[in-house]
Amino acid sequence: MNNKILVIGGTGTTGRELLNILNKNQVEFKALVRNSEKAKELEKSGISTVKGTLGDWDRISNVLTDFDTIFLLTGASPENIDHQNGLIDHANSVGVKKIVKISAVVAETGSPVHLADWHGQIEDHLKNSGLEYVILRPHSFMQNMLMSLPTIKEQDVFYESIGDGQIPMVDARDVALASYHCLINNNFNNGTYVITGPSSIGYSDVAKSLSETTNRIINYIKVPSEAHNHGMKAAGLPDWLADDLTQMSKTWAKSNDKPTDDFKKITGCEPRSIHQFTKDYASFFS
Ligand SMILES: NC(=O)c1ccc[n+]([C@@H]2O[C@H](COP(=O)([O-])OP(=O)(O)OC[C@H]3O[C@@H](n4cnc5c(N)ncnc54)[C@H](OP(=O)(O)O)[C@@H]3O)[C@@H](O)[C@H]2O)c1
Repeated sequence: MNNKILVIGGTGTTGRELLNILNKNQVEFKALVRNSEKAKELEKSGISTVKGTLGDWDRISNVLTDFDTIFLLTGASPENIDHQNGLIDHANSVGVKKIVKISAVVAETGSPVHLADWHGQIEDHLKNSGLEYVILRPHSFMQNMLMSLPTIKEQDVFYESIGDGQIPMVDARDVALASYHCLINNNFNNGTYVITGPSSIGYSDVAKSLSETTNRIINYIKVPSEAHNHGMKAAGLPDWLADDLTQMSKTWAKSNDKPTDDFKKITGCEPRSIHQFTKDYASFFS
């Protein structure tokens, strides 16, 4: 299939990895970038960029006319629905054929968790748009551990409120790899896939793996939901996001979510383990 792909969200955790994969495989693509310094950095590594920001619809409509396929990811924001549904509508009206959207395992229209509700509503809009689509619902990213870098580096501890709950955390690099396969071929069109790591693990397993790779004892401290919520707000997270994350942790404290084989079906590979993640990111935690 001869695609021309526009990547939205290419300066973020998942999107940046996707740009590397597309570049390495010599696929025809560009990254939509809203920040000129970030665009310069990408251009330096051989990645073509086009300037634009979701919400500036005149500019976006103009940009979209050059592309058949869109990778759609934006960070967690109350503007998610306006930005992503707006993108879907404008893509449709200028003749884009397909959108690969990054959603989340928790996606559910009407959920009291904002992020889950917003992803659910966008998924519904995309499915009803008449465009070809792929929806990828990743589980919690292993890269979220990077948010605990300050306490890990200074005190050899990190705090979470999911108790002994076990979840099949996924390496965001694998979300990028699954996205790549869904962008460059049509075998997965009009499907929704849950992208997970290889096994359900708890934060004690993460602490053990971090300790092994850094040669230090790194401890997981279980905190009550209220304390975690308070800590996130004190650290500057917006109230709605701290509340969403607290609610998700409460759910995962009780759940025993299992891994899926969707990643392997899409990519033909095994997903990366927590050991692979901590090994590859060891320099960050040292
Ligand atoms: N973290 C998790 O555990 C997890 C799990 C499942 C699903 N998810 C979902 O994954 C997504 C986040 O992925 P991520 O962590 O890889 O993203 P990220 O690092 O937060 O990056 C967000 C990207 O979106 C771009 N962006 C935001 N608003 C934009 C706009 N108006 N116009 C153009 N670009 C815009 C950002 O550009 P700038 O660089 O200019 O800011 C950046 O490239 C969210 O939808 C989240 O719900 C996350």
